[in-house]
Parts: sequence; C-alpha cells; structure tokens
Amino acid sequence: MSETTKYILHESDLPKFWYNIAADSPIPPAAVLHPGTHQPVTPDFLSALFPAGLIEQEVSTERYIEIPTEVREIYKLWRPTPLLRARRLEKALDTPAHIYYKYEGVSPSGSHKSNTAVPQAFYNKIDGTRAMTTETGAGQWGTALSMACQFFGLDLEVYMVKVSYNQKPYRRFLMETYGAQVYASPSERTQAGRTILGEDPDNHGSLGIAISEAVEAAAVSAGQKKYGLGSVLNHVLLHQTVIGEEALKQMDLAGEYPDMVIGCVGGGSNFAGIAFPFLRQNLVEGRKTRLIAVEPAATPSLTRGIYTYDYGDTARMAPIVKMYTLGHSFMPPAIHAGGLRYHGMAPQLSALYSGGLIEAVAVNQLATFEAAVTFARTEGILPAPESAHAIRTAMDQALLARETGEKKVILFNLSGHGHFDLSAYHLYQSGMLEDFDFPQREIDSIPDRTPKIDEVLAM
Ligand SMILES: Cc1ncc(COP(=O)(O)O)c(C=O)c1O
Repeated sequence: MSETTKYILHESDLPKFWYNIAADSPIPPAAVLHPGTHQPVTPDFLSALFPAGLIEQEVSTERYIEIPTEVREIYKLWRPTPLLRARRLEKALDTPAHIYYKYEGVSPSGSHKSNTAVPQAFYNKIDGTRAMTTETGAGQWGTALSMACQFFGLDLEVYMVKVSYNQKPYRRFLMETYGAQVYASPSERTQAGRTILGEDPDNHGSLGIAISEAVEAAAVSAGQKKYGLGSVLNHVLLHQTVIGEEALKQMDLAGEYPDMVIGCVGGGSNFAGIAFPFLRQNLVEGRKTRLIAVEPAATPSLTRGIYTYDYGDTARMAPIVKMYTLGHSFMPPAIHAGGLRYHGMAPQLSALYSGGLIEAVAVNQLATFEAAVTFARTEGILPAPESAHAIRTAMDQALLARETGEKKVILFNLSGHGHFDLSAYHLYQSGMLEDFDFPQREIDSIPDRTPKIDEVLAM
C-alpha cells in the first residue's frame, strides 16, 4: 500500500480566524511600560508607531479574531502550507517516532514571516500610513515586509543588521527588488545609529540596535511613517497562529496527534504560531502535548536569561516589557542563525514559560548545522539555519524514542528555507564554524543591565 507523505489542505480550508492565546492563557499579562516614564504606555505613544487595527489586536482578549478578506486573498498565494511526514528522515534515524513538519518555506519570501507582514501592511494601509520602517536580522522579515508593502502600495525603509547585510547581499537585492530601501545598521541616518557608531565605529550591529533605528525613523516622521516588528509583540504571534490552525487539521488528516510540537525561537513568533493552537487544546480539551521552544546556546534568553522588565531595543526607545532577557545591551556573537540573535523573548511566551506551560532547550551551532545537512540529504529541503534548531531537537527526540522504543509523534515547524544561507553552509562544510558558549559572567550581569522596574512598580 502506498504511504502518504504530504497532507494538503484546499484553499477553502484556509483559517478564517487567528487564535488569540490571551483569551485562554492562565497567566495575566504584565503591563507594557513607556521607555521614558516607566509608566504604562498610553494609546498616544503606541499610535505614533502602530496603526489602530494592530493596537486593538495587541490588547485584545477575544479568543478568535477574523482575518480580513484582503489578507486571506493574499495568503492564498502560498497558504495553506503543506504538512509532510519525514519518512526518509525517520528511516535514516531508524526511529519508531513519526516525524511531521509544517513547511512555511513555500511562502514567496521564503519563511513564515509573510503571515504577519501581509496583515501589518494591510492595517497600515487602511489607517492611511504612507510608509513603514522596520529592522531585519537574517533578512527574512525584511523580505516579507518588502513584498507586503509593495502589495499595498506602501514605501518601506529596512534597517538590516550590519553583519547580515555583509553576509547576505542577495537578501538585500531581493528586498530592493520588491521596492524597499535597505540600510546597514548601525547607520548614520538616525541619532541612535550615530551614537553607537561614535562609540564603536566597527560595531557589527544587533537586532536591538536595528529596532532602535527603525523605531526612531517612525517616531520622528510626524505620523508619515509607522513601524513594523517581525516578532515578539502579541499581534505578531496572533497572525502566526494560521500555522497551528492548519496543522491541527492536517494532523487530523494523518490520523495522528502530536506528543510534542517543536519550533525555533528568536522573538518567538513561529513557535507561538504552531504551538498556541495546540496549547489551546491542552488548556481547553485536556490534551497533553509537550510544546518545546528551541534557541541557540549562543543567545539563550529562555534557558539562561532572567524574567524581568527590559527594553525591547538597545537605545531604549521601544516599550519596556516583562520578558526573559539577556539584557538590551547584549551584543550577540555572529552566529549564522541571524534571526535568532535577539536579546529577549515575546512577553506572551515568556509568561507561559514562567508558568511551566511550555518548555525550552538550547542547542549549539555545529549540532544544528549537522542536523540541517542530514535533513537536506534525506528530505531534500535546505532549511534556514534558524529552522534547523527545531530540526536538531526533533531529531534528538526521535533518537530518544529509538532508545526507549516508544512511537512518539513529533511535529515541528520548518519556518523557512535556507537558499540565501549557503555561505553559512559552505563555512560549516569547510570546518570554519564554531560553537559559542555564552559566558556566565554575562548572565551574572543581567540584573545590572536591566531597568529596576519591578522595584518601581512595587512602590
Ligand atoms: C526562518 C526563520 N525562522 C525563525 C525565525 C525566528 O523568529 P521568530 O522566533 O520570531 O519566529 C526567523 C527570524 O528571522 C527566521 O528567519
């Protein structure tokens, strides 16, 4: 009998609603604070950066939020995305585990980031925004927003972390092809960039710095430009839940239910996107699926960071939120999963992790590339280095199942393809990549490098 490999949904199965975890999370959200006053942010402050539709979603506690028709029509270019059973990988690992993956690399920009780029551009368009600003690390988010802004006739300024700007020129060319202007960050265009370059002319950038530049560019534009963030915020996690909603239907088609759901985490959106609908099933239906977030050992915000209030960016212009953080001044090592080099973690995920509702593991760069190459050689898809973190953990769990002889059902999110990451693969194959151990002294100094907000709030 022939075995099914791909579980495909029809366009008519495309979810009509995003799922909002705020409706079911047993952990109340912490206040979002103004970076200057340290008081809860006002709608005025947020509306300098975001359009009304997104601010509403940011604070909403409605369980389901309707996906606008205009957004669904664009989603149809690549959604529903396929769910595949990694049968060849299972054979190579000689495991009794069943491994499934949801493949988000089929989106035109190459990753899950398009799922939020399109609604962000849409809500800006209907609010009268003329142009957007944003940051990008690996370039996946910048590419997705470049495409989405073009679809809605908006201009876009992208501040790209300098190390990625240099490592990945083709990502820049793609963003420019979609019509965006791309600047290496730190840049001379903003006060934040000039200050950082004044102190350290060789600074190779970080997501925290690029966020500062993009936020500043919007904040000083007198309402002409608004800012878009590719992860971390509640509305971004919300938009990504189309992944998990589709995966629930596809696991049904496969006649199985996952024992564990795995995703890599940078700011947390692709993991939340696949995991939150399964978390709902845990919370509401009594399911017991393990939800495992995977981060690089080089930027271990969940596994080694502390849960405290911190700025979302380096120059302290973005709101202060309660999250697992390595400190906003954290300068990440130049590992090749650029999209995972962020100092903090989404507040919603951080709260769930602090409450024990999700798990986290950290994996090393070399083990991650080893898994990525095994995956490419068995399943054929070249994964983004970010996504390879999820593959590493899925393989580790499948190998554990081989030892225990248990038929575990594993689902992971393959958040993007790695076609623009081939120089990193080349460095790996040439033995030129190394692991980076996050120094304990950096961990010990996090309390000194984060604002003392808990004390302020307790007064
Ligand atoms: C392919 C890919 N996967 C995952 C991530 C991590 O982001 P997040 O944790 O917000 O999903 C990124 C970020 O750039 C990415 O490009």
